[in-house]
Amino acid sequence: MEKNLAPIKILFISISGNTRSFAQKLVQHSQTVHQADSTARLVETIEIGGDDQFIEMQQPFAVLVPTYLGGGNGINNGNQEIMTNEMRETLADNDNYHWCYGVIGSGNRNFNTQFGLTAKQYAVQFQIPVIDFYEMRGTQDDVKRIYQELNDFQLQFEQNLSERH
Ligand SMILES: Cc1cc2nc3c(=O)[nH]c(=O)nc-3n(C[C@H](O)[C@H](O)[C@H](O)COP(=O)(O)O)c2cc1C
Repeated sequence: MEKNLAPIKILFISISGNTRSFAQKLVQHSQTVHQADSTARLVETIEIGGDDQFIEMQQPFAVLVPTYLGGGNGINNGNQEIMTNEMRETLADNDNYHWCYGVIGSGNRNFNTQFGLTAKQYAVQFQIPVIDFYEMRGTQDDVKRIYQELNDFQLQFEQNLSERH
């Protein structure tokens, strides 16, 4: 019998519901794939937000973060993260970011060069790769592509871990 692979754990934050919707679509897609192939990884999500949430990650995970930047004109100002700071704090808490193998950014392309910028800022701060971007709630193509990328990144991270131990 084949060994079941660990699930894909995702931490996300969502202010107006778009990221929550995308996270749910990833979960549903993984269940559909898993039904056809029981060795395929399932996606499990944890929503950040809410009082006194204590999160200590002990296994690999990825992050979905939308972009909310204060005072931005969409071109070259407004780099200050607002609304989503709890995700940044959760990554820093308990050195959780050590287990994070990538961040997926979202936003609205009307913000031009600021599109998805928070994910890029996390990548610099925590030294983690940006896996991909999608807009608003994401399309079904985004869901399929990003599910595949999550599989690839998680496998690579797991392999690197086992080589070090
Ligand atoms: C006040 C405000 C600022 C925003 N700033 C940006 C931005 O700088 N770059 C960007 O790509 N999207 C920006 N957005 C768009 C959101 O990131 C986008 O709507 C996202 O899908 C929201 O995710 P959520 O519904 O999960 O909170 C902004 C939206 C609001 C309301």
